[in-house]
Amino acid sequence: MRDCSLNEARAAQAIVEESIVKTLLTEQQLRDGVARMAAEINEHYRDRRLTIVGVMTGSIVLVADLIRLLNMPLRVGVVQARSYRGDATSPGELTINSDLLPDIHDHHVLVVDDIFDTGKTLFRLLDQMRVLRPTTLRSAVLLRKAGRQCVAMEPDHVAFEIPDAFVVGYGLDYRDEYRNLPYLAALEDQDLAAR
Ligand code: IMP
Ligand code: MG
Repeated sequence: MRDCSLNEARAAQAIVEESIVKTLLTEQQLRDGVARMAAEINEHYRDRRLTIVGVMTGSIVLVADLIRLLNMPLRVGVVQARSYRGDATSPGELTINSDLLPDIHDHHVLVVDDIFDTGKTLFRLLDQMRVLRPTTLRSAVLLRKAGRQCVAMEPDHVAFEIPDAFVVGYGLDYRDEYRNLPYLAALEDQDLAAR
């Protein structure tokens, strides 16, 4: 497990603003990966009723595509997790807003997030949700960044393993931009060297 003591917010800040991006996953590759993950989820839950909890805002595109490939009866709720990445304030601090979370007591719950980076967001979110006593609580992410994790958990479903690059598009942002790119792009190596 990696030592997480380094200042993640400062690292994100160091990324230059006008980075040139390059395609890491095409629209077709994303479609195929999401379909593979949906098949795994269908196989796991069969016809059990499922509550999908999307972690805002990065998971919006994934949730929209994923739920249309799921066969079981399901509900969709959201939570918002903010980690202040790239902001000067409170590095590493995480706030979770669960006002839009439906009642999950005695429900099968699948938390869906965009990316498993250090893993702290998902780890803390699942920890908080476990208190609400769902029947089962699992997680699915679009991306898992290789070699970055510093928590003792792994998501149950991962569509893609990616190298340690800062990525945008398909819901993921850099300072709230690029979420609308239909493909996944990585910042260029020379920019990443500054992280
Ligand atoms: P973690 O807590 O370090 O796993 O970070 C998870 C959150 O940080 C994600 O839900 C994203 O919002 C954000 N994040 C981490 N890596 C990236 C990236 O490469 N691009 C965009 N957002 C990222
Ligand atoms: Mg996020």
